[in-house]
Amino acid sequence: SIDNLVKDIEETKKLGIKAVLLFGVSHKKDPMGIGAYAKNGIAQKAIRTIRKNIKDIVVISDVCLCGYISHGHCGIVKAQGTRHKAQDYIIDNDETLKVLSKIALSHAEAGVDFVAPSAMMDGQVKAIREALDKQGYQDIGILGYSAKYASNFYGPFREALGSKPQFGDRKTYQMDYRNSDEALREIKQDIDEGADIIMVKPALSYLDIIYRAKQNFNLSLAAYNVSGEYAMVKAYSRCSVLGVRCSKRTDNREPITETEKNLVLEILTSIKRAGADLIVTYHAKEVAKWLKQ
Ligand code: PBG
Ligand code: ZN
Repeated sequence: SIDNLVKDIEETKKLGIKAVLLFGVSHKKDPMGIGAYAKNGIAQKAIRTIRKNIKDIVVISDVCLCGYISHGHCGIVKAQGTRHKAQDYIIDNDETLKVLSKIALSHAEAGVDFVAPSAMMDGQVKAIREALDKQGYQDIGILGYSAKYASNFYGPFREALGSKPQFGDRKTYQMDYRNSDEALREIKQDIDEGADIIMVKPALSYLDIIYRAKQNFNLSLAAYNVSGEYAMVKAYSRCSVLGVRCSKRTDNREPITETEKNLVLEILTSIKRAGADLIVTYHAKEVAKWLKQ
């Protein structure tokens, strides 16, 4: 919520973290996701509030539809055929590009530094770059979710956003995890379209992809340590033997154990070792504290 946001980001900044990635979520979803580009939407308000109250923090905003659209997909859905089967509903890539551009522009108007399109539509970086430039926002950067896999590690995030697809899955726009060369093609495409930072997502099961991206491209490389990876660490540190004896710890403010700390440091170091220049992680504040100590 907006009232907790400023306090939270001030804390984040004090710990030495230089950038935040914002995700908006609306509990009033609609079939076209129009809330995603509302002038007074939660993301736009959040960006304006941070800009007004906090100096020297880089604000990056997620650009997608899944937190706002009733069916939970990352794009506009078009019906075809009999409309009875899941296959009769397809994602309208090019229609979605127009909406993503509108979302990016609404964030630009609010004062964002970078937009981060995560919908995995073909041509999204180019469409957004052109829309921003046309309105005079040449200085706003783009963090491309370049190689984003259709992963089983997104569960907790989707639960938080209420963005689990109501039909079908995201495999028509997110990547097949059996494929590694495609990641390099996707990254190259994002760079050609004007991305300023490229990203691999998830991180831990994709260290090979991070490594290859680092070897092949000379651009800032981000890796996203996603919600399921975070949840695994939390579950592991609470359970002693293969989940048999788990403490029912529900309070997130309880001190983090030494086991968990060491585990997190090992995981994040491996992501860095593979080649990531930036890591997006839910462990950020804790890690920043440990690194300071
Ligand atoms: C989709 C999106 C996803 C995440 C962030 N934005 C993946 C998805 O739902 O398919 C996952 C983040 C996480 O799991 O931490 N635009
Ligand atoms: Zn999405």
